[in-house]
Amino acid sequence: MNDDRHAPAVDWDALDKLAREARKNAHAPYSGYAVGAAILTKSGRTFVGCNVENASYGLSICAERSAIVQMIAAGERTPVALAIVTPGTSRLGPDVESPPLGAPCGMCRQTLAEFALDLPIRLSASSETNLSRMTSLAVLLPEAFRAHPVHA
Ligand code: THU
Repeated sequence: MNDDRHAPAVDWDALDKLAREARKNAHAPYSGYAVGAAILTKSGRTFVGCNVENASYGLSICAERSAIVQMIAAGERTPVALAIVTPGTSRLGPDVESPPLGAPCGMCRQTLAEFALDLPIRLSASSETNLSRMTSLAVLLPEAFRAHPVHA
């Protein structure tokens, strides 16, 4: 678990708002599925990301990983909260089978697990539905692969 003794209190609405703003900058012309993410770090700083797609589809990066990249590039290493805003329903699968709120993909879960044993995550819909729910990295990625014994 993260040592959260000195972690800032989480203002989830503020973090959600940052993710919502970042989502507006998403470059998602191929899927039409814009995602925004905002990370709060232990030191109280925030970092945002959005998905950035590419004509060569496999080069696309998700919002969550783009936020983590920003965090690392700024010298921060300890995320304590993550807010994610998605369109709410996946446009990529049959609607009836789609979860109402987009959850991070497996690659993003593993990337987050590099820097946090657990992490509270708020998933929200961009629409007017006001749909949102709390989950966590430990719930989304149990038994994550970890290379370093400190993380075992
Ligand atoms: N996407 C994210 O940004 N985050 C996720 O966790 C799932 C998927 C993006 C990738 C792609 O640009 C679009 O959503 C559709 O998959």
